[in-house]
Amino acid sequence: MILTKSEEEIQLMREPCAIVRDCLKFVGDRIRAGMTTKDVDTLVYDFIKASGAEPSCLGYCGYPASACVSVNEVVVHGIPDERVLDEGDIVSVDIVAYKNGFHGDCCRTFCIGEVSEEKRKLVRVTEECFWKGIEGLKAGTPLYNIGYQVQRHAEENGFSVIRAYTGHGIGREMHEDPNVPNFGRKGTGVRLEAGTVICVEPMIALGTWKVKVLSDEWTAITLDKKSAAHYENTLVVREDGVEILTL
Ligand code: MF3
Ligand code: CO
Repeated sequence: MILTKSEEEIQLMREPCAIVRDCLKFVGDRIRAGMTTKDVDTLVYDFIKASGAEPSCLGYCGYPASACVSVNEVVVHGIPDERVLDEGDIVSVDIVAYKNGFHGDCCRTFCIGEVSEEKRKLVRVTEECFWKGIEGLKAGTPLYNIGYQVQRHAEENGFSVIRAYTGHGIGREMHEDPNVPNFGRKGTGVRLEAGTVICVEPMIALGTWKVKVLSDEWTAITLDKKSAAHYENTLVVREDGVEILTL
C-alpha cells in the first residue's frame, strides 16, 4: 500500500534528508585515492552520529556498515572493507539516515583522480537519468513513466539499466511501496498521488545490466565486470511537480 505523507510528516523528513545530503558533500570533499572503503564508511558513521541521527543501514537485515560503498563493477551494496581506492575508480556512496522517526536516502558516485572518459560519461549520464526520470513528474503521473524516461536516456547513450534493483517509497520505513523501477512502459503503473515520498535512483551500467550477488550475500557486481554508477535522491510528489528533499 502506498502511504502518502502529511505536511507535518514531510517536515519531519527534511532533517534526515538534509543530513544525508550534507554527509555526501562532506564525503565528496574528502574521498581520494589511498583511502579504503572502510575509511569512507567511518566518515559516514561519524557524520551521521554527530548530526544526531542513526545510520539506517547499520544492522538492517544484518548489513554490517553505515554506508554502501560500491567501486567500479560493484553496482550496489558494496560492504566497506580494506579495498583501497585507486586513481581512475568510480565509487558510489549510498547512505540512509534515521531521525525524527523517518529515513532519508541519497547516493552519489564520485570519481577518484583522473578517470577515463568512458567512466566519466557514465557518471554524468547516470545523474542525467535521474533528472530525465523526474521530468514532468507530478501528482497523477503514471509510476512507470519514471523508468521509461530513465531507460530511454541511458540506452540513447549506449548504456544499460540495472533491472534487479529499484527505487522505492520511503518514510517511517527505509523501503516502502511502491517499487520504482528504472525501466518501464510509458503510461503504465499506478498514478502517483501528491504527498507520496519516493527515492528515484538510477543504477546504470557501461555494459551488461545483468548482475550477480557475491557470497557475502550483499555485494552486487555486473556479470561482465564493467563499471556501473548510481545516483539517488529522496523526493516528494507535489500537485505541480516534485520537491527534492536531498538537494
Ligand atoms: N540506499 C539503499 C537502498 O535504497 C540502502 C539499502 S542498503 C542496506 O536500498 F544495507 F541497508 F540494505
Ligand atoms: Co534507496
